[in-house]
Amino acid sequence: MINQQFTQKFDREPAVSAQAPGRLEFIGNHTDYNGGPVLGVSVDRRISVALAPRADRQVHLWSATMDRETITNLDSITPLTGEDSWANYALGVLKELIDAGMKTPHGFDMAVDSDLPPGAGLSSSAAFELSCGYGMSALFDFELERADMARVGRRAENNFVGMPCGILDQGVSAFGDVDCLVKIDCEREEFNRLPLPQDVHFWVFNTAKKHSLVDSLYGERHRECMESVKRLQAALPNITCLAQVNSEQLEANHALLGDVLLRRARHIVGECERVRAVELALKSGDMRAVGKMLFESHDSSRINFENSIAELDLLVDELRRTDNVWGARLTGGGFGGAVMAVTNSAFDQKQAEKNVQAYQDKFGQQATFFHTQTGPGAHRTEVTA
Ligand code: GLA
Repeated sequence: MINQQFTQKFDREPAVSAQAPGRLEFIGNHTDYNGGPVLGVSVDRRISVALAPRADRQVHLWSATMDRETITNLDSITPLTGEDSWANYALGVLKELIDAGMKTPHGFDMAVDSDLPPGAGLSSSAAFELSCGYGMSALFDFELERADMARVGRRAENNFVGMPCGILDQGVSAFGDVDCLVKIDCEREEFNRLPLPQDVHFWVFNTAKKHSLVDSLYGERHRECMESVKRLQAALPNITCLAQVNSEQLEANHALLGDVLLRRARHIVGECERVRAVELALKSGDMRAVGKMLFESHDSSRINFENSIAELDLLVDELRRTDNVWGARLTGGGFGGAVMAVTNSAFDQKQAEKNVQAYQDKFGQQATFFHTQTGPGAHRTEVTA
């Protein structure tokens, strides 16, 4: 599909193509940049790119979904603004790959297409970064380990786009696979795949409330977490991140933090404990225990981290009362976006519709939903496919 789109747009065949999936944050909310563990799954929806070399040093990036072309030059890779800012994810990756040693003797054309709903908390940005990483490195014959590719994506987002995210989104898009969860130890930056028990289904309920991660509350929460570490170091001089603190230590140092920072830190410390509990429960196939942790994670987001909104809370509360649902929680940064429900195979369209009807009754607006399965991680694809 992406190859035909490329040909229609640029009037020649692409030389290489690649794709990378969106992700669901299973559990471990905001633990990544706090050095904690996190579990995610890659979904069966993705961003695809196709590329071919140009004779000059220009870079033409064309989005099929927006039908928008952004043109720049290899000799002036700097962040773009306004309507061209969509291209910054690609340009950030290009710059990081060049910094990592990739040689770019010529420019290129690139087409991008997506079947990831934007703003639904599935991290289309990481999918875009990873698909660019695999596509560009294939075009310029540059090899990188999977973990390094995830790091390139994250650095592009931190340094070029200006979003202080952790490694979750890029790590899951890179390492995800069918019927797997990706576990990331964010302090050591170790990536592992865990088997997902059978008969586990994912439903995404999108509030269509848009989060504005770059310039808003995500950065504020990031700063609050860093400030909490700094203050806790007065009593715990050896810690370097919140994930190294346990609940007892945290509560004993209430006075150093004050109420707001204490709640922020409680969320992170609690999430780290819940991720470990979920990992154990998954090993024994205890989905009831897993689901309980997912609901608890959401409650902690609502009360402690305050990164939920009324719309997400309503969906989670409805799902809590619905049969065949193991657990549900906001997924991703929060402040809008989507709820992930983890269900057994008996959960169906009718039950999902009932949930969004309750949403419509309360907010007078529609929430959308879809069923998704796990999908393969980022990879190069055949241009003839
Ligand atoms: C966003 C960020 C991730 C992570 C989550 C919250 O998706 O990109 O790095 O911090 O929020 O867990």
